[in-house]
Amino acid sequence: MTERAKFSGRIGFILAAAGSAVGLGNIWRFPYLAGKNGGASFLLIYLLFIAFICFPIMTAEIAIGRKAGLNAYGSYKKIGSGSWGSVGILGIIIGILVLSFYNVVAGWAFGYFIEIVFSDLLSVKDYGTHFAHYVADPSDNLFFSMGFMILTALIVSQGIQKGIEVANKIMMPGLYILLIALIVYSLTLPGAMKGVEFYLIPDITEITRHTFLDGVRQAFFSLSLGMGALLTYGSYLHKDQNIVSSAAIITLADTMVAFLAGLMVFPLVFSAGQSPAEGPPLVFMILPKIFQDMGPILGRIVGGSFFLMLCFAALTSTISMLEVPTAYLVDEKKLPRKKTVWTLATVVFIMGLPSLLSQGTKGFDMLNKLSFYHGRDFMTFISDLADMGLTLSGFLLCIFVTYRWKLFNMHEELAIGSPGYMSSGLHHFINFSIRIICPIAMGILFTMLMLEKFFGLDNIF
Ligand code: PHE
Repeated sequence: MTERAKFSGRIGFILAAAGSAVGLGNIWRFPYLAGKNGGASFLLIYLLFIAFICFPIMTAEIAIGRKAGLNAYGSYKKIGSGSWGSVGILGIIIGILVLSFYNVVAGWAFGYFIEIVFSDLLSVKDYGTHFAHYVADPSDNLFFSMGFMILTALIVSQGIQKGIEVANKIMMPGLYILLIALIVYSLTLPGAMKGVEFYLIPDITEITRHTFLDGVRQAFFSLSLGMGALLTYGSYLHKDQNIVSSAAIITLADTMVAFLAGLMVFPLVFSAGQSPAEGPPLVFMILPKIFQDMGPILGRIVGGSFFLMLCFAALTSTISMLEVPTAYLVDEKKLPRKKTVWTLATVVFIMGLPSLLSQGTKGFDMLNKLSFYHGRDFMTFISDLADMGLTLSGFLLCIFVTYRWKLFNMHEELAIGSPGYMSSGLHHFINFSIRIICPIAMGILFTMLMLEKFFGLDNIF
């Protein structure tokens, strides 16, 4: 048997895993959730969840992957035997679901990038109407989301070192540079400080049940947990690498981008006198108007950079999502990598069509207002379903590590490549979190999401 591919070293792994984590979740979803949930109070709760829940789960997920050296299904099965493989399968299925709609949103970002740089996005009169038409008209969307899926497949089909690693080594630094440049620019605008205040000075009266629910959901999603992406990347990690410090860097890198995205978006929004609570279209409706006000040249540069950055962020995430089922089929079914990647990309693209057509496309009203889903649209349905699956999968991961693999075995794996780990006391924290805090938090979140989304109990609590 040929040896399994590995990342060339620590930097390659960290960049790829951070690339997976940093995505639309950070730049598109985080600012609108923060905007909707009171800015600074959301940020505060979010940071707590990152530290106490997500970081420990991330170390556990990477440890499972590296210990077993297999895909999500194979790793759970190898370490846990019996039916534990099904936890991995759950992750793989959720990954496919997420990719199917994520690719559609990535296609919007791609389309906006092309339009702002090469076409007339800057001369639009009303960006709200424009966005509504844009997402409802499948002609452009189909093309751009297909383009995005093809880019993803091209990279993944090249394998770990030549594809995933090289792509991340180029795009991740690019993303940071663009982000910092945009922040510097937005902070110099008149009225920018109002945005900074909204974002950094918490008003605890703003904290509600939604702040918690949205915060923990977002933290989990943003760090790519629960669907085997980091587990799969962990399986390509050399034994001499330090998992704990890598996980800390990945967590920081991801949190930093979310934090910085807010620091860029809110000054822009406030300086233009707009409302931060616009919801999902925030970056597609409010920001283009602001770019327009900058004039045709500066607007193209700043707006083009913004949407290019969004595409980079999305692409480094979609490749990790496609890698999860690819690794499964290559490891378990011994299928050839390239063919598997292209077949999966085609299937997932087709699975994304109902999401793509659910944003107001004529003739597809039933997807736009799902009667069984309280009149919400198909894309929201899949995204909620996936979030629920992620939390369930996180819950099962904690149960698996605590009762099946056993925490001391995990610590043994974590200590390889990290000589000071056991004496640092950090393992007590990770223990406590994986055994107690995470399963309780994930269990509650799963139940609440289910009640709220499927049983319409939003008004009862
Ligand atoms: N973390 C990515 C984001 O923030 C999304 C993602 C989720 C990627 C799960 C891979 C796995 O956009």
